[in-house]
Amino acid sequence: MENKINTIGVLTSGGDAPGMNGAIRAVVRRAISKGMNVKGILKGFNGLLNEEIIDLHASDVSDTIERGGTILYTARCAEFRTAEGQQRGAEVCKKHGIDGLVVIGGDGSFQGAQKLASLGINTICIPGTIDLDIACTEYTIGFDTAVNTAMEAIDKVRDTSTSHERCSIIEVMGRNAGYIALWCGIANGAEDILLPEKYDYDEQKIINNIIANRKRGKKHHIIINAEGIGHSTSMAKRIEAATGVETRATILGHMQRGGSPTCKDRVYASIMGAYAVDLLLEGKSNRVVGHKAGEYVDFDIDEALAMTKGISEYQFEVSKSLSV
Ligand code: ADP
Ligand code: F6P
Repeated sequence: MENKINTIGVLTSGGDAPGMNGAIRAVVRRAISKGMNVKGILKGFNGLLNEEIIDLHASDVSDTIERGGTILYTARCAEFRTAEGQQRGAEVCKKHGIDGLVVIGGDGSFQGAQKLASLGINTICIPGTIDLDIACTEYTIGFDTAVNTAMEAIDKVRDTSTSHERCSIIEVMGRNAGYIALWCGIANGAEDILLPEKYDYDEQKIINNIIANRKRGKKHHIIINAEGIGHSTSMAKRIEAATGVETRATILGHMQRGGSPTCKDRVYASIMGAYAVDLLLEGKSNRVVGHKAGEYVDFDIDEALAMTKGISEYQFEVSKSLSV
């Protein structure tokens, strides 16, 4: 199909994720290699409404692929949830000659992108979130770095937990999804993993487990608690009172979102960024880039948002059997 796109805009929105810079870089350089101009929109949809728009040249994305965060900054923008905000966003794109837009973010950002697409702006989404909670794709940029950061932090907590013969509850991010918790639970050999998808966890069972493990001579008891369950501090108090085992809560928090992206995040970000530009060149709009069964693919945003995914029952069952 003929290339009708002259200028591509790119923005990052929602929570940042390591690897977003790799995606921005790929959008910029792929677009330039195909003869297009690129504009960076700062601070997500907020920056779009405020017309915080800069020209991006190939050299502007030098030395960025290895950096955490997002060079375009990111934000959450309440105004963009309104019809007026979305209309204005589309007008700003037109005013600045942006005839193709790449939105890098999570499924909230995709909803904003969908509105712009319905208002005539050719829009493509790239999944960028540490939470891995986007149903149409098996991979989201940032997950690998975040889960490795969390894993390394949990190893450290485990050292001190063993020295003091304590129980440690370590809370990891993930919003309503338990992927980071499940992966860390397996990778760190946690005794218990609490996932929002399995909310029926039984605190008395955990207490009995801690007492039984202590009798068997186990020096520590690591509980990975997903943010979606939360309440780690009060849980620690209850567990300490019921078991007599000193218990501490550690909430890893935003450290999980920072840091230099892993190789996996840089590579997925680079391919997804280029793929998004190619979709625009093919005249496509209202699409989400994904990765499924070893292939880079794309889906209609509306269909992508309607998809659901859960925790693998098999992986969860295995994680429990390995923690005895
Ligand atoms: P994420 O993209 O990481 O899921 P959010 O859910 O916070 O993060 O969404 C990011 C931004 O996307 C919001 O601040 C808002 O500007 C925009 N957004 C979210 N939901 C909608 C919606 N239903 N309609 C329009 N814009 C939305
Ligand atoms: O979506 C990424 C994420 O880090 C979630 O895991 C977490 O629930 C949320 O963002 C935290 O958001 P904020 O940075 O606004 O505290």
